[in-house]
Amino acid sequence: MYKIALLPCDGIGPEVVDEGLKVLDVVARKFDLKYETIPYDIGGDRYIKTGEVLPDSVMEELRQVDAIYLGAVGHPDVQPGILEHGILLKLRFGLDQYVNLRPVKLYPGVDTPLKDKGPEDIDFIVVRENTEDMYVGIGGSMKKGTPDEVATQLAVYTRKGTERIIRYAFELARQRAKNNTITMVDKANVLTHGHDLWTRTYAEVGREYADITQEHAFVDACCMWFVKNPEWFDVIVTTNMFGDIITDLGAMIQGGMGVAASGNINPEGVSMFEPIHGSAPKYAGLGKACPVAAIAAVQMMLETLGEADAALAVDKAITAALATGKVPTTTGPEGSTQQTGDLVASLI
Ligand code: IPM
Ligand code: MN
Repeated sequence: MYKIALLPCDGIGPEVVDEGLKVLDVVARKFDLKYETIPYDIGGDRYIKTGEVLPDSVMEELRQVDAIYLGAVGHPDVQPGILEHGILLKLRFGLDQYVNLRPVKLYPGVDTPLKDKGPEDIDFIVVRENTEDMYVGIGGSMKKGTPDEVATQLAVYTRKGTERIIRYAFELARQRAKNNTITMVDKANVLTHGHDLWTRTYAEVGREYADITQEHAFVDACCMWFVKNPEWFDVIVTTNMFGDIITDLGAMIQGGMGVAASGNINPEGVSMFEPIHGSAPKYAGLGKACPVAAIAAVQMMLETLGEADAALAVDKAITAALATGKVPTTTGPEGSTQQTGDLVASLI
C-alpha cells in the first residue's frame, strides 16, 4: 500500500493534480497497485488565513510517506519568496531531495518552435542539483533602501553535494539507452572557485565511467545548443540555478510548460513529483491549463516507486493522446484540462 501525500497548493495546481490522480486511479486498477492519498491544505490561501506555511508537524508526516505529489506554488497576494522558500525549497532541502530530474522530450504530434527538429532530435534529460547553490538562502543586505545599499546572495557548493549529483548523472547516462553521453553545464570560466570544484569533481568521478562519453558546455553556450542542436544532448548535469533556467528553455523546445514534468529525488528517502510550471493564477479554476506535465509527473512517480510497467503504460497513454494532435499543450479552451485527463485515462 503506497502512501502518497498530495500538495496541490496554489493556482492551477489543484486542477492539474486532479487529472494526474484520474490517470493514477486507472493505472493502479489495471496493474493492481494499492495506494492511499493523504491531502494537505498547504499554499497561499492557508498562509493568508493562518500565517502558516508548512508546519513542522506536516513536515514530520511527509517523512513517513512513499511519495509526494505537488501541484504548483505561488500566490498573487503573497510576497514572492515566502511560499517558494517556505514550501517548495523547505521540502526539497528538508527531505534532501538532491536530484531534480527534468526530462526534455518532444512527443510526436507536439509542436516545437525549433525549425526542422522533431521527436528524434529532442530527447534528453537534465539532472539538476537540488539542494545547494544560490538556493541555500545565505546572504543579507545592509543600508537597505538607501543609495549605499549592499546585498549578497551566496552560491554554496560542497564536495559531497557536487559528487553525489554527478555520480547520479553518470549512472543515469549508463542506464539510458541513448548515446551514453553526459554533458556537464557550468560557468567555470567565470565562477573560478565554485565551478572549479565542479570541474575537478566531474573529472574525478568520470574516471570511474570510461564507458560514458564526457562532454562539457558553458551555460550560455548550452542555451545556444538547445536551440541549434538539441540532438547532441543525452544526459546533462548542472547546478541548481542553471538547471532551473535551462529547463524553462527545455520546456519550450518540448512544446511548452504544459508538458514538462520533474521529479525531486532522494534515492534513499522520500521523493516529490511536480510539473515544472508555476501556479499561473490567472488561469486558476478555468480548466484551461494543460495537465500533461502533471500526468507525466505521475509517470515519474511510478517509475521511482519501482512500478515500471505502470509507468510505461502512462507514458504510452500520454504519447497516444498527444499523437491525436488534439491536446492543447499550452492553455486550451475551458474544460480542456479535464478533457485531456479523460483522454489520457481512457488510453491506459
Ligand atoms: C522550479 C521553480 C522553483 C525553482 C521556484 C518556484 C522556487 O521555478 O521548480 O523550477 O526555482 O526551483
Ligand atoms: Mn523554474
